[in-house]
Amino acid sequence: MLSSTALGQSAAYGQPYRPQVHFSPRMNWTNDPNGLVFFRGEYHLFFQYNPFGDQWGHMSWGHAVSRDRLHWRELPVAIPEHDGEMVFTGSVVVDKNTSGLCGTKPECLVAVYTGHRSTPELTRQTQNLAYSLDQGRTWTRYDANPVIDLDMADFRDPSVFWDEPLKGWVMAVALPKQHKVRFYSSRDLKHWTELSDFGPAGEVGGDWECPDLVHIPAENGTAGMWMLKVGINPGAPQGGSGEQYFLGDFDGKRFTPSREPGGHGWTNYGKDDYCAISFNHLPAGARPVLLGWMNNWQYASKLPTSPWRGQMSLARRLALVSDKDGIIAKQTPIVEGLREGKGDSFSGDSARTITLEAPFEIELNFDPREEKVFGVRLRTGEREWTEIGFDREKLQFFIDRTKSGTMVGQGFAYRTTAPLALDRRFDLRLIVDRSSIEAYAQGGTIAMTNLIFPTSGRSRVELFSKSGKPVPVKGTSWKLASIWK
Ligand code: FRU
Repeated sequence: MLSSTALGQSAAYGQPYRPQVHFSPRMNWTNDPNGLVFFRGEYHLFFQYNPFGDQWGHMSWGHAVSRDRLHWRELPVAIPEHDGEMVFTGSVVVDKNTSGLCGTKPECLVAVYTGHRSTPELTRQTQNLAYSLDQGRTWTRYDANPVIDLDMADFRDPSVFWDEPLKGWVMAVALPKQHKVRFYSSRDLKHWTELSDFGPAGEVGGDWECPDLVHIPAENGTAGMWMLKVGINPGAPQGGSGEQYFLGDFDGKRFTPSREPGGHGWTNYGKDDYCAISFNHLPAGARPVLLGWMNNWQYASKLPTSPWRGQMSLARRLALVSDKDGIIAKQTPIVEGLREGKGDSFSGDSARTITLEAPFEIELNFDPREEKVFGVRLRTGEREWTEIGFDREKLQFFIDRTKSGTMVGQGFAYRTTAPLALDRRFDLRLIVDRSSIEAYAQGGTIAMTNLIFPTSGRSRVELFSKSGKPVPVKGTSWKLASIWK
């Protein structure tokens, strides 16, 4: 017999569109992930959260913990809105008491977040601290907040990390209306010195938000590099919110983008991955890992889900690829831990049609020969499917969700595209959950995430090609275990 908590849990996470392999809060609204950090064996996920409803408002930091970044346990609100100040996006660091906020402890968690105050007369965004002496369970605001105040209405989303060569803290923070990321440094998290500005650069058609600066170490003969990613909303190439990245060098003061081809790209070419940030304080030798909000401000408030609204992407390991087409970031989702069994492998010219129930994963390696347009269709009804494919004529990888099910407002019915590199492999990895598809193509150099709201959780997996001839393919599919059971 199920215990009452197990019963409660499966009922609470059993709704038709409830993500089964992605984190979503049990109830209410969420947007950006905040304060991703690994500390004493636990991964922490804080997130923009409205404790009082399923629309944006009363922004506070929700909290969940995990030992594997897959199975999350939601904890009580970590940092609530207080005295008219909302708690906007920010980061958490493990501080070896440089701040003195840890008291007699050798180390503690310190959150650096944007405080947002708004009255009809005035809006102010400032950078603030809070600290926790009990592994993130309870938080105290620093009594001399704010630590940076530029007297500005738009100045937000501090991303802070420890820079070992510098022996100090570095902050990247957005000046959204100026399309700039400003860098600061500090010895104690309380006093900050301005270093430099990056931007405007690349796309500037909307607010710049949620910067993240991360070092991607050398691997497989590719030299290490820094990646600066920054959200833009609206004005992303697929409409609404999106995130561009720049590869380059950070010398402890200034970020200089590389001029190599591929040095400027998008962390995600779908519509639904925003404000991704990297984990702080990962064990030595670990690859950097990004995790984002699987949504788009164009229609985030209209998603047909209840009693929660909003979900997170999988965590993705970051690496670099350097080949004939230039340098490019590569992402690998962390999901293997949920695969049930060895998987079901198939190969041949016309792989048999299979039917799978979300959540599931499929890996496909196409050998397209002369075929120009080919891919896979996930059919969830007679007139309902999502198409994922490669188009060698238009030089695009694409996901077409215009017939994927229930539509949720402006900008949702869409075919998202990414530039295709003809020299790279035509491989595809799909993680299909009850209301999303995460696609990784060409060795993970293309990531494309889109929400879908099909009327059924069962998909018939159909291969297609423009000529109608079968395309040789090798593949494996796995049923994924729900993280909630
Ligand atoms: C991005 C964002 C951030 C801000 C937060 C408020 O989605 O607008 O810039 O800190 O959401 O919830």
